Amino acid sequence: MKGDDIRRTFLEFYRERDHKIFPSFSLIPEDPSLLFTVAGMVPFKPYFSGERPVEFLRAASCQKSIRTNDIENVGLTARHQTFFEMLGNFSFGDYFKEDAIRWAWELSTGPFGLDPERIWVSTYEDDDDSVQIWRDVVGVPADRIVRRDADDNFWWMGVAGPGGPCSELFYDRGPKYGDVEGFQDGDRIMEFYNLVFTEFQVDDEGHRIADLPKRNVDTGLGLERLAQILQDVPTAYDTDLLRPIVARAEKVTSRRYGENEKADVSLRIIAEHARAGAFLIGDGVIPGNEGRGYVLRRLLRRAVRHARLLGVDRTVMAEMVDAVVETMGEAYPDLAAARAYIEQVVTGEEEGFHQTLRLGMSLLDSEIDIARDAGATRLPGDVAFKLHDTYGFPFELTLEIARDAGLEIDRADFEVLMDEQRARARSDRRAKLDLTDSEALTRVLSESGSSLFTGYERMEQEAKVIGIVRAGEQVPSAGEGDAVEVVLDATPFYPEGGGQVGDHGVIEVDGARLEVVDTQRRLGDLIVHTATVARGEVHAGTPAFARVDPAWRAATERSHSATHIVHATLRQTLGEQSRQAGSLVERWPRRAHAVPSCCSRRSTATSCASSRSGTIRSSCAGERTSHERATSAWSRS
Ligand code: ALA
Repeated sequence: MKGDDIRRTFLEFYRERDHKIFPSFSLIPEDPSLLFTVAGMVPFKPYFSGERPVEFLRAASCQKSIRTNDIENVGLTARHQTFFEMLGNFSFGDYFKEDAIRWAWELSTGPFGLDPERIWVSTYEDDDDSVQIWRDVVGVPADRIVRRDADDNFWWMGVAGPGGPCSELFYDRGPKYGDVEGFQDGDRIMEFYNLVFTEFQVDDEGHRIADLPKRNVDTGLGLERLAQILQDVPTAYDTDLLRPIVARAEKVTSRRYGENEKADVSLRIIAEHARAGAFLIGDGVIPGNEGRGYVLRRLLRRAVRHARLLGVDRTVMAEMVDAVVETMGEAYPDLAAARAYIEQVVTGEEEGFHQTLRLGMSLLDSEIDIARDAGATRLPGDVAFKLHDTYGFPFELTLEIARDAGLEIDRADFEVLMDEQRARARSDRRAKLDLTDSEALTRVLSESGSSLFTGYERMEQEAKVIGIVRAGEQVPSAGEGDAVEVVLDATPFYPEGGGQVGDHGVIEVDGARLEVVDTQRRLGDLIVHTATVARGEVHAGTPAFARVDPAWRAATERSHSATHIVHATLRQTLGEQSRQAGSLVERWPRRAHAVPSCCSRRSTATSCASSRSGTIRSSCAGERTSHERATSAWSRS
């Protein structure tokens, strides 16, 4: 079964079971606590947490996803990838364990044709219900049901949000993939489908902090994994999803895959990172020095360096993108539409990197020689720092080149030098405020839990004040004239996200009045109102009445619609390759209000670090008009 057939079969199976089918959402999530979409459930998070009312009870999708925790292992092992496609079926308070388990089994042993005798299942250690369903309803023999602890069988996003115990399906691929005794999770007995029973709200560490309003199902079936199983090939790189891209890497480097292990590593890296890079650029990321841009830069540079290791000194990434589009463009028409733009971005990055390499490599080579002559096993951290600071060499690249030369790098030294530089670059006052402010909010979160967002249904809300922060310190009360950050247990105020600014309005507390001038999501699920106490005194723990300024909300909504219309029109007029890489959606016409100190009158940046909240905001109320900002963010190839 080809990758395309697997996608189609999965979605068709769940369509027949009343699931609403969604095309993949962007790799850039709306949720500001995540850098990338790491799983199929991410775009649906508000439905799991109960933040957004459900308009449908069942959904299914094939979601492009990126996980970056293991970049340096990609290529070295045949298993790791950054980019992957996750097929998923979801229930928002509708079906639960029994249907999820039964359908996963029916799909695996029916349309996918897996041998039932070779399927193993795992469950969370105390999940007796799942064990009973697998054994008595489905008929899996008890000795092929394995109970595992939270390290293996409790899933959450890695940041605060919905999570729960999970049950996984594994397939025994037979002795040609290794010898095992009993159950052993690995290349032979390979996990391919994860069913998460999402019942809890968890914190950043994965600790349960509350029950969710409803019991949900979130599943993930790894497309490349299943293709590997069904096509009976050793690795994901041998499936029809990736092999043509590896073949293009062979062509541009004039090497054959499978002849030499070291060259194979490079070919895999070139193929995998070209694929991930193409999708990231297609979704609006551009190479840069921080956040998503940095991840993209790292992927592209790693691919280029491995092409050079194989003796290539011309630009090759555009050709690699071509192979990615040829292989995946039908399933992802947006990617195909952006082909010319993506090729332009990767080539620009590749040329810049060649220049960086030319300058930095001679320094690095001579430092490596010096270390070897001295019989040293490591390079000093200041070499890596100088390469980073002066030549723009990413640390990981220095690390990798040194490792290839048999040398370690003193990471601790490097980190110290980086920290010193960061400290110099930031004003002391602001650094201090960032820290104390986060500490104070962390305390609010641990003492009182998260805030519930109710703003999709209502503009007014009775609530309780659960935290007050003044000048970075948690305080029990605040008085007239104080500038504070206030947290309520529930709020209708929309926190800034998806390019749309946070709500303004009023919070009334026992005769006191707070005027809210900004709302931000912090630490995952805390909604923080930036406000001034206009009248009276406000105390933590007291009842409050929160009211969004209706004119503000309506004007912001108009801007939101207008932005979509502008984007659609630009695409129609300029072509599909026109990309929107960030816009500001705010109230228009704007009401005069304080401009964060980080935005200068002449600033043309579409993003800035707010000195007030200490977070990097996707947008800020600077001096330019919404229209100027929305349109300046467009680029055209
Ligand atoms: N969200 C679950 C996972 O990524 C299904 O494994």
